[in-house]
Amino acid sequence: MDLFSAIDTEPVRKRMEELAVGLDKLNHEYYMNDRSLVSDEEFDSMMRELQDLERQYPELASPLSPTKRVGGEINKNFRQVQHRFPMLSLANTYSIGEIEEFEARTRKLLDGTAFTYTCELKYDGVAIGLSYRHGHLVQAVTRGNGIVGDDITTNAKTIPTIPLRLQGDYPDDFEARGEVVYPFEAFEAMNRQRDAEGLEPFANPRNAASGSLKLQDSAECAKRKLMFCMYFMMAPDGETLPDTHFGRLEWARQMGFKVQPYIQECKDINEIKAFIDHWDKARWELPFGIDGIVIKVNQTPLWENLGLTAKSPRWAIAYKFKAERVSTPLESISYQVGRTGVITPVANLTPVWLGGTTVKRATLVNADFITKMDIRKGDNLLIEKGGEIIPKVVGVDMEKRVEGAMPIQYITRCPECGSELVRMDGEAGHYCPNSDGCHPQIIGRLEHFVSRKAMAIDTLGPERLELLYSAGLVRNIADIYDLKREQLIGLGADATASIQDKGADNMLAAIETSKQVPFERVVYAIGIRYVGEVGAKKLARYFKNIDALMCATEEELAQVEDVGDVTARAVSEWFSKDEHKTIIERLRAAGLQMEVKMLSGDDKLAGMTIVVSGVFERFSRDEIKADIEKHGGKVSGSISGKTDYLLAGEKMGPEKQKKAEKLGVKVISEVEYLAMVQ
Ligand code: IVH
Repeated sequence: MDLFSAIDTEPVRKRMEELAVGLDKLNHEYYMNDRSLVSDEEFDSMMRELQDLERQYPELASPLSPTKRVGGEINKNFRQVQHRFPMLSLANTYSIGEIEEFEARTRKLLDGTAFTYTCELKYDGVAIGLSYRHGHLVQAVTRGNGIVGDDITTNAKTIPTIPLRLQGDYPDDFEARGEVVYPFEAFEAMNRQRDAEGLEPFANPRNAASGSLKLQDSAECAKRKLMFCMYFMMAPDGETLPDTHFGRLEWARQMGFKVQPYIQECKDINEIKAFIDHWDKARWELPFGIDGIVIKVNQTPLWENLGLTAKSPRWAIAYKFKAERVSTPLESISYQVGRTGVITPVANLTPVWLGGTTVKRATLVNADFITKMDIRKGDNLLIEKGGEIIPKVVGVDMEKRVEGAMPIQYITRCPECGSELVRMDGEAGHYCPNSDGCHPQIIGRLEHFVSRKAMAIDTLGPERLELLYSAGLVRNIADIYDLKREQLIGLGADATASIQDKGADNMLAAIETSKQVPFERVVYAIGIRYVGEVGAKKLARYFKNIDALMCATEEELAQVEDVGDVTARAVSEWFSKDEHKTIIERLRAAGLQMEVKMLSGDDKLAGMTIVVSGVFERFSRDEIKADIEKHGGKVSGSISGKTDYLLAGEKMGPEKQKKAEKLGVKVISEVEYLAMVQ
């Protein structure tokens, strides 16, 4: 910068700083203290002035400017970053008995030392970590797998309860952790709007929060009105933090974080139980969702004495609330036809508020389910929603049954194509056998094939598939690979909605790229009934190539881990059909991956001998052993002086631990292992 421009811009810089400080203060008062110090117009006019100045003088714009709250930056993709401190999870339980055990165990381990607990809410949202240097927010990362997460800094800056610059005293270098939640009111409003726009509503506030943090357009994220609840603070060695958890959160509040006031110091199990009881009932009065209570030892120096288990600290535990249950009238039943022809009955319910969302529909699974539950016309159904996203029908509210209620007459014909339904021996569901002529089956198979977890051809959305189908270009999955540019251009309802040059090129490029999708996913994509992502992976790895898989007998198929008799039969039947054999040959000729490719490893564990014991979260035992070998390590069955590490999962026997201690073998958790190899 030359001298003249430096002099010229100084008053501008000052004004920008003045506006930024003023807006930060107004934001803080509004979102933290519920106080409006100026009118909306005044606020907007300050914001606009700052935005204009930043546009004119981009070199003077601060990355922490309050204009970032409004968003507008586009995230191309979310960079994966490694957490500085692994993001552990908590042991959790639905049982008060286990909370009593936790309390007794902790007291015993602390052996007479005086201490207390803190009880706080377990926010039902998305965990993130915020890094601050010299009082400035420098990075926001999602939990991911605890070791590596997504860098969502741009979107995090749009959340008003995440301070961009801290106030007062703060550690120079620390990380604040907490949960991004979607308050009910904002969530409902957003879903109403999505409904009006013909978009699929979000299943629940947690999913919506998670989806919002991954929005490409940060201005869109800004509109979502997310909230950050801070619950944890950590700093590298040398940074001094208060020595109680309570004190740390109090300090965080003074720095400008939103720390919910519902935290209580408890001195014994009775106080803990009283806190849990209170919130189990009062939780729906909160403006956001919680799914339990977190109990932590308050005195942080004791955390080290208590240590960690394989996955979680011993100084904390989460009590999870049991599923919420309501009763609501069954209005009617709809029947949906899936891609495999399976019929799913769906209960249309009188809308009811449950666990933070309005429930209008719930699956009735199949005819057997309806019979087993003895669901009758005019019944009230009991609906539950626990930690899972989808509400479940758990029974009939018998107190409300009217006398003489008639049983449900299950349909006998396909609601889409009118074919007579079939029911195979030993299977609970009905099917429409007209696989080549029943519209939802054809489109469903195509949609499944191109879906993200299958071939990931994201330029072929449901509308495009319908278009290609009705133009007679795509009738089955193999037809996708025969599409020609000239067939695509101009396809569509009218000139504006039709496919143009660029659209056609993008579509063909995505189709071309899908040819590199690994064989495991091809097995999933072809859409054999009962073969999900995991099953497909197991089948692919077991048989290694399509020819071996195609000619495997039912007995051989049933040898594969997690593949039961019903799946084995479905796979064998699928490959026995001539039209399916033709499809496979066409896919092979198109260049799709038809065999397992070995991953190229590295030598991060070269020369190391590792003993594996217990149960793991991310891997099966065989997978973790294969992973060690892939990284050049050696797996051994027993601990000896030559063992470098004991890789300990859940439920590892105490003898192994003792032996490792005796021989001085380092014990590592799955999370630590992942950090070593990643
Ligand atoms: S403390 C080292 N406190 O629940 C443990 N977690 O499995 C740090 N959560 O992943 C977590 N509310 O995402 C803590 N008040 C709270 C929480 C909380 C929600 C989440 C968090 C964690 C999971 C526990």
